[in-house]
Amino acid sequence: MLMKTETAQTTGSQDIENTTVLERDSIVRKSLILGSGAYLPERIVTNDELAKRIDTSDAWIRKRTGIRQRHIAAEGELTSDLAVAACRSALSTAGVNSDEVDLIVLATSTPDNTFPATATRVQALLGIKQAIAFDVQAVCSGFVYALSVADNMIRLGQARTALVIGAEVFSRILDWEDRGTCVLFGDGAGAIVLRAGMSEAGSQGRGILSTHLFTDGSHYDSLYVDGGPGTTGKAGCLRMAGQEVYRHAVHNMAEAIEIAIEANGLSLSDIDLLVPHQANIRIIESISRRLGVDNDKVVITVGSQANTSAATIPLALTHAQNDNRIQRGDLVALSALGGGFAWGSSLIRW
Ligand code: UT7
Repeated sequence: MLMKTETAQTTGSQDIENTTVLERDSIVRKSLILGSGAYLPERIVTNDELAKRIDTSDAWIRKRTGIRQRHIAAEGELTSDLAVAACRSALSTAGVNSDEVDLIVLATSTPDNTFPATATRVQALLGIKQAIAFDVQAVCSGFVYALSVADNMIRLGQARTALVIGAEVFSRILDWEDRGTCVLFGDGAGAIVLRAGMSEAGSQGRGILSTHLFTDGSHYDSLYVDGGPGTTGKAGCLRMAGQEVYRHAVHNMAEAIEIAIEANGLSLSDIDLLVPHQANIRIIESISRRLGVDNDKVVITVGSQANTSAATIPLALTHAQNDNRIQRGDLVALSALGGGFAWGSSLIRW
């Protein structure tokens, strides 16, 4: 972090003013969460409905994953449509007008088109004129990555009010003949509104305390889509080595939270709410067991929404917010892992 004294000595009075966006005396800029919102497509597909089409059963899916149903986007309903609905709900909860937004970071692996960024369509549909808008692609950990990017931009003074979105239509990249994957995913979107605020340096005051990101591309082939503009020229379908992903998800998501807790000088018992990526109830239970976090502190949406990739965390945050499970000052821990592998965690003082 650029210190006031260094800037004052080297660049003169004009730049001292600029340090207000970085650090002045002991006051630092921080990203506060003002509210979150969500949108799930109307159509619900139950396990029994899938069992009519492929060789599976409600019993198998529930036992191995905890999933009971998933929402599936209507024909013509795009990632941007889901994202816009989630943003409207988040802005309304936050009490923020869309014209106050100067940054839109959208995490998705199912963009409307290869380019431009789906975030630009969201910007246009929300009627936002003055904003930076772009996509981030880190599959299921996309929201944590997008949060990290937005948080850093806010702390550096490049933005004041941000929409951070996770939005997906994974139903469009599934092989509906592959029972090993098609039963696991759903469509949906969630968004949060971030606003720059000031806090004492080193304090644990409200806001995003940290984001920790990790990537290991040697696992590229464990979870990928077998197509794309650079290879087949077609969108392709999701392929996954389920057990390999499972093993890494449990270990890496838990470890990412342990690293964040240690980096902030906190202890695992300080966590008030754990909001993990929602891929499989067994993964979530293993993580909370390892971290020693009680079940009543864990947000679980996988049963009713399945795995919506980058959207699971903002959807789960909104679920918790609407159920009054998050109080101001609570320590909220997020963690996700997805294709790449890319994973990460964030600690937020709500
Ligand atoms: O969001 C990104 C992160 N993704 C994840 O975290 C997913 C991680 N992986 C998982 O959640 C689990 O590995 C799965 C849910 C994908 C699979 O569960 P599993 O307990 O690892 O099952 P498995 O792959 O070992 O398969 C066990 C059996 C196999 O049959 P055989 O070979 O034992 O006869 C599969 O063919 O279950 C069979 N099977 C199914 N049976 C009924 C696989 N899918 C199904 C199905 N219905 N849908």
